[in-house]
Amino acid sequence: MSGAGDRGKAPARWLGPGLLGLLLLPVALSLEVSVGKATTIYAVNGTEILLPCTFSSCFGFENLRFWWSYNTSDTYKKLIEGIVKNEKSDPKVKLRDNDRVSLEGTTKEKMNNISILLRSLEFSDTGKYTCHVKNPKEKDLEHQATIFLQVVDKLEEVDNTVTLIILAVVGGVIGLLVFILLLKKFIAFIIKKTQEKKKECLVSSSGNDNTENGLPGSKAEEKPPTKV
Ligand SMILES: *[C@@H]1O[C@H](CO)[C@@H](O)[C@H](O)[C@H]1NC(C)=O
Ligand SMILES: *[C@@H]1O[C@H](CO)[C@@H](O)[C@H](O)[C@H]1NC(C)=O
Ligand SMILES: *[C@@H]1O[C@H](CO)[C@@H](O)[C@H](O)[C@H]1NC(C)=O
Repeated sequence: MSGAGDRGKAPARWLGPGLLGLLLLPVALSLEVSVGKATTIYAVNGTEILLPCTFSSCFGFENLRFWWSYNTSDTYKKLIEGIVKNEKSDPKVKLRDNDRVSLEGTTKEKMNNISILLRSLEFSDTGKYTCHVKNPKEKDLEHQATIFLQVVDKLEEVDNTVTLIILAVVGGVIGLLVFILLLKKFIAFIIKKTQEKKKECLVSSSGNDNTENGLPGSKAEEKPPTKV
């Protein structure tokens, strides 16, 4: 069960809050429904998965209605439906499509959590799950958030492989750059050393040199630096 739903979260981890912030800005004062940062959840057949949904309301609520729907291209059904009397009570489930689905979480203490748990997942459970909330205190406007569930044979770590490859390439390139830099430094050091030696030769030889007098043709007598 652990690890289910981790996929797809990674990019959303940093993208999510930013986008959410932008999206929520204009509607910051109304009721909000959220299914979290991941838009797609992957889960293995036969296991169970929690489909998250929370809502927030700045005006408070009374007799708030909520339901989860399931939608694919050819099916639409209500999975679970219920009501929350007020902020001090837990949700009361009025309708349940089958016993593989159950309501989790609590609406007490401002948790406002109406997540559902799906058990014994089948491949046919793949589809769009939408969490709806209707608050009479807010003109009965309906708010919703959708999450996509993909039931798979096993969770593949494709993302990690790609990440590892990228890391390896980046690491290799950085390593190569460092190596080239070190090589350049080393070569520069060798050249400097060599030149210093040459200079030493020049200095020592210039001690006996009279070309400073500026006699024409004296250059021709200049000896090439002695090799060491
Ligand atoms: C999931 O489905 C595959 C293929 O149908 C099957 O082999 C496997 O046993 C199933 N896993 C579970 C946990 O039911
Ligand atoms: C169900 O999904 C389809 C395709 O995504 C969409 O056209 C349709 O409006 C949805 N139905 C409901 C009731 O949301
Ligand atoms: C909602 O409740 C479920 C079940 O108790 C829990 O696993 C989940 O973390 C809760 N979500 C939030 C956002 O508190």
